[in-house]
Amino acid sequence: MVLAYYSSAAVRSVIEGVRVNAGTQHTIGREGRRLRVASTEREGYRPIGRAERSEQCDTGVRLQAGTATVEVAALAPDLFRVGLFLNGRPLDYTSEAIAKMEWELTQVQSSSANGELSLCTGAARVRISLDPLRIRFEDASGRVFAEDDPERGMGFFARPKVGGREEALGPAVRLYKRHPAGERYFGCGERTGGLEKTASHQIFWNIDPPGGHNPGHNNLYTSIPFIVAMQDGKAWGLFLANTYHVEFDLAHEDVDCSWFGAAGGDLIYYVFCGPSIRSVLDRYTELTGRTPMAPLWALGYHQSRYSYMDADELRSVAHEFRRRRIPCDVLYLDIHYMDGYRVFTWDRERFPDPPQLIAELQEQGFHVVTIIDPGVKVDDRYQVYLEGREQDFFCKTADGGEYHNVVWPGLCAFPDFTSSATRAWWGSRHQAPLDDGVAGIWCDMNEPSLFVPFHSTMPDDVVHLGDGDPKLHAQIHNLYGSLMARATREALQALCPDRRPFVISRSGFAGLQRHALLWTGDNNSWWEHLWMSVPQLQNLGLSGLAWVGADIGGFFGDTNPELLTRWMELGVFQPFCRNHSALDTRRQEPWAFGEPYESIMKKMMQLRQRLIPYLYTVFEECHRTGAPILRPLFFENPDDETTYAVEDEFLLGSALLIAPITRHGDEYRHVYVPEGTWFHLWSGKQIEGPSHILAEAPLGEPPIYVRANTPIPLWPEMSHVGERPADPLTLLIFPAAGQGELTLYEDAGDGYDYQQGFYSRRRITCETSVDQIIVRLDERKGSFVPERKEVHLEIREVPAPPESVHVNGQQIVPEYDDGRRTLIVRLPEVGAGTGVNVRAGIS
Ligand code: GLC
Repeated sequence: MVLAYYSSAAVRSVIEGVRVNAGTQHTIGREGRRLRVASTEREGYRPIGRAERSEQCDTGVRLQAGTATVEVAALAPDLFRVGLFLNGRPLDYTSEAIAKMEWELTQVQSSSANGELSLCTGAARVRISLDPLRIRFEDASGRVFAEDDPERGMGFFARPKVGGREEALGPAVRLYKRHPAGERYFGCGERTGGLEKTASHQIFWNIDPPGGHNPGHNNLYTSIPFIVAMQDGKAWGLFLANTYHVEFDLAHEDVDCSWFGAAGGDLIYYVFCGPSIRSVLDRYTELTGRTPMAPLWALGYHQSRYSYMDADELRSVAHEFRRRRIPCDVLYLDIHYMDGYRVFTWDRERFPDPPQLIAELQEQGFHVVTIIDPGVKVDDRYQVYLEGREQDFFCKTADGGEYHNVVWPGLCAFPDFTSSATRAWWGSRHQAPLDDGVAGIWCDMNEPSLFVPFHSTMPDDVVHLGDGDPKLHAQIHNLYGSLMARATREALQALCPDRRPFVISRSGFAGLQRHALLWTGDNNSWWEHLWMSVPQLQNLGLSGLAWVGADIGGFFGDTNPELLTRWMELGVFQPFCRNHSALDTRRQEPWAFGEPYESIMKKMMQLRQRLIPYLYTVFEECHRTGAPILRPLFFENPDDETTYAVEDEFLLGSALLIAPITRHGDEYRHVYVPEGTWFHLWSGKQIEGPSHILAEAPLGEPPIYVRANTPIPLWPEMSHVGERPADPLTLLIFPAAGQGELTLYEDAGDGYDYQQGFYSRRRITCETSVDQIIVRLDERKGSFVPERKEVHLEIREVPAPPESVHVNGQQIVPEYDDGRRTLIVRLPEVGAGTGVNVRAGIS
């Protein structure tokens, strides 16, 4: 009887309470679940009242209001944490979402006057009025934000008593904040619909939505209860650290108010004071963790299909890529590689010799990634199941049995990833695929997604024994995906300590970025889903998940040549670039529709390949600062509020502006070009922003713009089959009056030596005036020396041959291409500690 494991009577009563209340129904799709948050005061909302007592604590203050304890602390000059703990619950801030628990003590000045306490860090201030207890924030400029609604503030919903006991999970908790006119919300992780989330209601509860999700669907596979608010160029952010069913109402029910609520647990929220959007993301990813450096190979193009059915099919796909000289770095094996979908096995008829097959593909420059689902087939002759059962690693029903449901293999048990022993066991199971040569793991169906009823997830009363701290599924549901990804990443790290793990996940919670990249699940081969991916990926980037991508070409349904080609034109700029499609759909490898589509896709994929040094530089910026890789225009132009509504364009890093075509038949589109000088990549036409333009965009020439004077590092075009030549490195520059710069980041592309200084960071600037272009390559920082002989400057749109070109003061013979109006300067790669100065006299 599993209850014997429960450590305390309190936990037993929790289980009992849920059983009495909830029975054992299943949680079905979307918002259809039992522990719903009541929506108005009429349903029993009780705001926190007067703070009767207050005392100083570390960097903040602890207040008592009735049976509630409220703690407000400054963790950093621009980061505050607020916790509401009801009925004497312990003040516990540990959360799977949080990467950084210990903060250096922030200097806080506290004061009190007129019934108000104030904590000031210098950069920001929190003001706490005591009767009733209400909280608001201010930055150094006096801007007030995240201000509690005066009447409702924080509070809870009184629940009906059940058999004399408070309902199992404690009351639902909620926080009401004022919504000043003009404040606009973004973020919220993985969403349908457009970029801006003002006036919307957002649900955070991971599900595997039925095919064809659209703006009528709310929650999807991953939950990140985090918003970024923008107004007048200034930003602030709020993260609700609660893994229960969470809802945000963003000035939707009430235009003057937003609320942030959870179906149970403590109300713990973090406020990021900005005022820049960059600093909000920087702190948010310091708190929840940053994206680890990717292995360089993973930035290439990935090809997948549900499924490449056997070894010969996989070989032939690989062969086609190489024969057609189309770049591809990674191939995927979906569920058919397994023996009856039993995880950690191979179907030996379809794949008789996996190590041999993978070695062959490695020879050709491919990495192979295999899918792993959490469901373990209930089968007495299957070692993985037997081990899990014997060691009690699976989730339990409320009365102590193993919880079973149906997924691909039939009846399955599900690892309890809240237990560290289970994670370690699951992790150790990855030894076999790694020994076979598998390069990365794809965690799927980890909401978890269940088939009975179809597209459901676990009932709230499933029990996770954890590490001696049992939890109901309702309490940790949104974490299941992240915990599976964590087990996987930790295993790959431990088993191959010299390699950077490659883990992809469909589901997760805030902080997932520490463990895995995310793809946006099962989209459809629809123009609408091509469009939707643009704001979706931007909001993910604004929510700390920067390494993201949607399935290129669309997963469900038949794609068509124009759609696939247009999707590729966008997809090659996704941080994660993978083409994937479902069983029984039309093939969508890049050659599937012949010419001219194949050549266009190949051109775009070659561009992706060439851009890898740029992508890697932007990736490293994200790893270091939390800045999204694929970012909305307002990330770089927060003072221009026109950009807040630009949802169908994005920036890749800060130097490339992409405005994909997302509708059938369109050959022109409106593009908003933000401030600065930009050049159209294909024609070299110069555009001054801010401006609205009509861009001509025939198939094969999607609107792409390069920021003037910003060097874009490029690899050469792939010249050999399966090779990624890196010499020479080209610095593509479109000069225009003014200056720009990029700090090129390079390292070994795998492993961790970069953490010991084995990297190269070099600032490259370009300054253009009426009569000269000066490009400077600063001294290199770090001890990594790239293995190449040459760096080429490719300076475009130089109207006439330069009068002279000097390299470090020495005149050289200019190399000028009239037709392309391009000046090439070939420089030897120089060692660390040496700078290069190139001056081209132009008139
Ligand atoms: C899920 C995944 C999809 C995968 C399929 C079969 O639907 O989202 O990518 O191909 O399962 O494993």
